[in-house]
Amino acid sequence: MTDPTPATPATPATTPATPPAGDGINLASASAVLGASDDRFRHDYLEVRGLHVEFDGFVAVDSVDLTVVQGDLRFLIGPNGAGKTTIVDAITGLAKASGSVRFGGTELLGRKVHRVARAGVGRTFQTASVFEELTVLQNLDIAAGAARGPRELLRRRGSAPENVEAAMETIGLTHLRDVQAGILAHGQKQWLEIGMLLVQDARLLLLDEPVAGMSHAEREQTGLLLQRIGDQRTVVVVEHDMEFLRAFASSVTVLHMGSVLSEGTYAEVQADPRVQEVYLGTAGAARGARRSRPASGTAAAPALPAAPGVPTTTTTTEA
Ligand SMILES: Nc1ncnc2c1ncn2[C@@H]1O[C@H](COP(=O)(O)OP(=O)(O)OP(=O)(O)O)[C@@H](O)[C@H]1O
Ligand SMILES: [Mg+2]
Repeated sequence: MTDPTPATPATPATTPATPPAGDGINLASASAVLGASDDRFRHDYLEVRGLHVEFDGFVAVDSVDLTVVQGDLRFLIGPNGAGKTTIVDAITGLAKASGSVRFGGTELLGRKVHRVARAGVGRTFQTASVFEELTVLQNLDIAAGAARGPRELLRRRGSAPENVEAAMETIGLTHLRDVQAGILAHGQKQWLEIGMLLVQDARLLLLDEPVAGMSHAEREQTGLLLQRIGDQRTVVVVEHDMEFLRAFASSVTVLHMGSVLSEGTYAEVQADPRVQEVYLGTAGAARGARRSRPASGTAAAPALPAAPGVPTTTTTTEA
């Protein structure tokens, strides 16, 4: 664990008509907002037991167990419709679920969305959900305000709090502080959302496909940022991009048809014949495609690239 380094000073505000690309995420300043030496995060972990979600009798999530400890960067993968987003919705109070979801020893199931957030749980959505009419700075300040008392809000009025400045620097959007979030590039909106979770001081972050639509360089920067965040907080990333996963996941849970199919390191799940079957579909195709998931309605998931030093498994077995 590295010592926190102070954030570099914010650059002057600019208001370009279209947002310049910028230099991207500033990892050098990340520790200032991530709180590297903060003991609050030490004993956090997410414990999901027997999670079950139904939509009108259709079982979207079935008996899912998941344990993610602080310091782990866990990726949730699986074909379209596997139940990844529904799990995040259930944990954050958006989908009605049964079973148990505990974070830091607190039961989250049955709590309303805002009370889950207050317990230190933050999430992003597949489609970025920033306030499009507001500027980058306003979005971050509102998010930070949600974590501040009214007295502190009054005291701070007129100047951006330190943690907001630091978060802005970390996510590489300082030069766009006065730009409306609505005109940011897709990747920049995702970074803004991550910044909003950081200023809210979320200790469990659930990120739904954060790098979708990003350039290769942006993915790289995002992955490094997530590793830094994952060092200190509990982070779960839903992702389809296998190259991204291979480069940055410290552990992987594979979901299929609402259940956990496999779990382990990238190399372990990549070598699991059941995962090969789901991702390559060879056994299913040979047997005449047994897949019957309604409403998932999309193409087969991309094949898992081989982990470094691990041969690609070509044989398949029954799941
Ligand atoms: N509100 C809802 N009402 C009815 N069915 C739903 C609802 N939300 C999700 N589902 C269904 O539950 C299943 C799991 O959906 P979910 O969105 O969790 O999948 P996912 O793994 O996130 O997929 P993707 O990779 O496409 O984002 C799908 O079959 C989906 O159609
Ligand atoms: Mg989803």
